[in-house]
Amino acid sequence: MNPRVLVTYASKHGATADIANKIHEILKQAGLSADILPMDEVTNPSPYQAIVLGSAVYIGQWRRAAIRFLKAHEQALTEKQVWMFSSGPTGHGDPEKLLNGQKLPEGLQPIVARIQPRDIEVFGGVLDEDKMHFWEKWIIKNVKAPVGDFRDWAVIEAWAQGIAEDLMVAEPA
Ligand SMILES: Cc1cc2nc3c(=O)[nH]c(=O)nc-3n(C[C@H](O)[C@H](O)[C@H](O)COP(=O)(O)O)c2cc1C
Repeated sequence: MNPRVLVTYASKHGATADIANKIHEILKQAGLSADILPMDEVTNPSPYQAIVLGSAVYIGQWRRAAIRFLKAHEQALTEKQVWMFSSGPTGHGDPEKLLNGQKLPEGLQPIVARIQPRDIEVFGGVLDEDKMHFWEKWIIKNVKAPVGDFRDWAVIEAWAQGIAEDLMVAEPA
C-alpha cells in the first residue's frame, strides 16, 4: 500500500505555503494519499509514513513553528521517510549558493543529522513589498536583497515528482 504523506510548512507571508501547496498537489496527482497543514497545527504526525516539511528562512533561521515541530517530533521523524526544504533566498542563480551553500540554518544540523531526511532542498523565495512590515522593508533595504518572486515552479514540481516516485509502491500485477 502507498504510504500516507503529510506536507507541512512554516510560512509568514505565504510564499512557502504556496510551495507546500504545489508539492501537495503533485503528490495527490501521483495518486498518493496526502494531507497538508501548517506546522503549528500538526499535533500528531504518527498516522503518516512520510513527511515533507519546509520553512521560510528569516534572518538566517527557520520559523519558530518549524524549530518547535522538529524538537517536539524528533523521535517520530527518525522513524519516517522525511524530505525537507528551505525557502527562500531571493535573487537569480542557485538558491543554495544564495543561502551561502547551506541547505538549512546551522543550528539545525544536529537534529537533522539524527532525523536523516531522504533529501534537503532550497527553493527561491519571494519578497513582496506590499506584504512586508516597515521593519522588514528596512532590513531588506539594508541587506540589498532583491525584491520579487524567485520561486522556480518547474524545479519545485520536479522535486515533488521525485518524492512521489520514491513513495509509490508498485501494485502487484
Ligand atoms: C525580514 C526578512 C528577513 C529575511 N531573511 C532571510 C535570510 O536570512 N535568508 C534568506 O535566504 N531569505 C531571507 N528572507 C527571505 C524570505 O525567506 C523569503 O521572503 C521567503 O519567501 C518568505 O517566505 P514566506 O512568505 O513563506 O514567509 C528574509 C525576508 C524578510 C522579509
